Amino acid sequence: MNQQDNLNQFPDQAVIMDADPIQIFRKAWGTYQKVISNNLMFHREISYAIKQLFETSPGPLRLLDLGCGDASHIARILKPGQLAEYCGCDLFPYALDDARTSLQPFGIPATLLCQDMIDVMQTSPANHFDIVYSSYALHHLPVSEKQAFFMECSRILRRNGCVIIVDVMREEGEARPDYLDGYNGTVSTLWTALTPDEREQVQEHIRNCDFPETPSDLKALARNAGLTSSRRLEKQTWHEAWCFRA
Ligand SMILES: C[S@@+](CC[C@H](N)C(=O)[O-])C[C@H]1O[C@@H](n2cnc3c(N)ncnc32)[C@H](O)[C@@H]1O
Repeated sequence: MNQQDNLNQFPDQAVIMDADPIQIFRKAWGTYQKVISNNLMFHREISYAIKQLFETSPGPLRLLDLGCGDASHIARILKPGQLAEYCGCDLFPYALDDARTSLQPFGIPATLLCQDMIDVMQTSPANHFDIVYSSYALHHLPVSEKQAFFMECSRILRRNGCVIIVDVMREEGEARPDYLDGYNGTVSTLWTALTPDEREQVQEHIRNCDFPETPSDLKALARNAGLTSSRRLEKQTWHEAWCFRA
């Protein structure tokens, strides 16, 4: 994937071939930060549910964060002392610069890779991580890569490790066109904290980049990979958090 393709991975489809990539990134990222600060994708409730899970996990943990962005989300969920090792990857090099800053309070070795998540998993050692975490990134992948994702999770997780997925998910029985209509309708009517231009930017991204599965589909992909135990941690409309284990 080249850098211009990468820019299509986040809410800014209006990629102008000779535009400054840093500016494009900042604009798209700025919109996403506004989405988070207005809790439009329920980061608050989802973070709370994941925090509860981490409270009961023996630590410190080795964590792999796929599609980590600026790592600000995971840095707010975890406390210093809960992490032994952090490896994050993202397709946006500029997000990784910010991730380094987000992770500074943890004082642990952080590896930040500007690489596709499946490539990162395929080159990761077996039985290494306690947690594979991916937040609002998996829905970008085609179903064959989602299957590869779970297969690799199974290989790289340590005994008793778990996969935590935060993502948009279709309702059971909801086809993608209905999901797109429903989600984009909600953006039009409820995401009034954004400007009309920002709402259009988000909707364009959703039309082009959102390929969410239903929870049952994800559970089946996980089961195929030997991750037979699954637990929903949170659900707020299409926004869900799940934990999968062997
Ligand atoms: C909506 S942002 C989420 C960022 C962060 N995880 C969070 O929850 O705030 C999705 C991120 O996934 C990254 N991404 C999408 N597809 C990816 C892939 N195949 N490999 C690595 N990163 C990917 C994008 O670059 C983007 O930064």
